[in-house]
Amino acid sequence: MVRDISNSINKFHKISIAPMMDCTDSHFRMIMRKISSKALLYTEMIVAQSLIYTDNRGKFLDFNKEEHPLSIQFGGDSPEQLKEAAKMAQDWGYDEINFNVGCPSPRVCSGNFGASLMNYPSKVARCIEALNNNCNLPVTIKHRIGVDDNDSFSNLNNFVKQISNAGTQRFTIHARKAFLKGLNPKENRTIPPLRYDMVKRLKEENPSLLIEINGGFTNINQCIDGLKFFDGIMVGRSAYKYPLRWREIDNKIYGDKFLPLQASDIIFSLIPYIENHIKKSHRSWDICKHLINIIESFPNAKKLRNKITQLSINDNLSIEMLITLTNELKAMGY
Ligand SMILES: Cc1cc2nc3c(=O)[nH]c(=O)nc-3n(C[C@H](O)[C@H](O)[C@H](O)COP(=O)(O)O)c2cc1C
Repeated sequence: MVRDISNSINKFHKISIAPMMDCTDSHFRMIMRKISSKALLYTEMIVAQSLIYTDNRGKFLDFNKEEHPLSIQFGGDSPEQLKEAAKMAQDWGYDEINFNVGCPSPRVCSGNFGASLMNYPSKVARCIEALNNNCNLPVTIKHRIGVDDNDSFSNLNNFVKQISNAGTQRFTIHARKAFLKGLNPKENRTIPPLRYDMVKRLKEENPSLLIEINGGFTNINQCIDGLKFFDGIMVGRSAYKYPLRWREIDNKIYGDKFLPLQASDIIFSLIPYIENHIKKSHRSWDICKHLINIIESFPNAKKLRNKITQLSINDNLSIEMLITLTNELKAMGY
């Protein structure tokens, strides 16, 4: 079953910020949303089974309304469990469901899901159908160009065709293969070479499929070039490490008016959010651990980052102190 939503996905999701475990939680997404009002954001991968058996679903599913458009990423290999998870995603108000077939972590692959599923396209198709059949949300997939010896173009092409028939609305392809044995997840994000050429050929041979490329994009101009060949670009590590460097997304990709956002503007805009979080007896560090990444690229940035880190880690960062530090930042022109 293929729903015709290609135009809306095409138009709005030219840039997305990759799902990253321990990084793209709700707080980071709030920061990223201040930087781009339009980029598609993703949750961290949520294992469908954990979601079903937890007694605290909100911990996995809650998000702030400002985070839209937001895709929830599921990992799993049981159509029954994914079906249940899909219904929850819809009830919770997500905009899209993404299925993870790219994670090479041994823990994930020993459960026979993540990147190892690339060896079992019919199983992936059944999972996609299960997600599709129990909700009205678009279902998309994130996968690699191959795993181990299963790395030919024809296998990739067959995989994508089969999964497309199951009702996948967009393919986000990390343009590296994964080695299921011998490399850890971090090495699997750096050692296998990037093969943009393979993803480009895939798009050329399947022009009607929406293909988003991922892997190694570090600046907006690279993304603009990439959009000549692909329907979308997904940015991971560079957006997490240097969020502010992506402040031109809305202007350069979507044609919105340029807003010369500075680090201090972002922090000021998040003060009510941080205050609310602290009031609920949560730690400022939950947010500041991501927020410090916007303080970079100017003299003494490291010193200020360290100060906020120390105060926040020791639970000594009051809102008043954060406002004072941000005012100092603004006075310096950042
Ligand atoms: C810390 C970390 C955690 C990640 N967690 C996930 C995840 O939960 N799901 C997923 O599909 N990919 C995950 N990835 C992979 C990224 O989504 C992305 O595919 C990869 O980093 C390559 O893109 P980049 O070169 O722009 O960083 C993770 C990457 C990193 C660095």
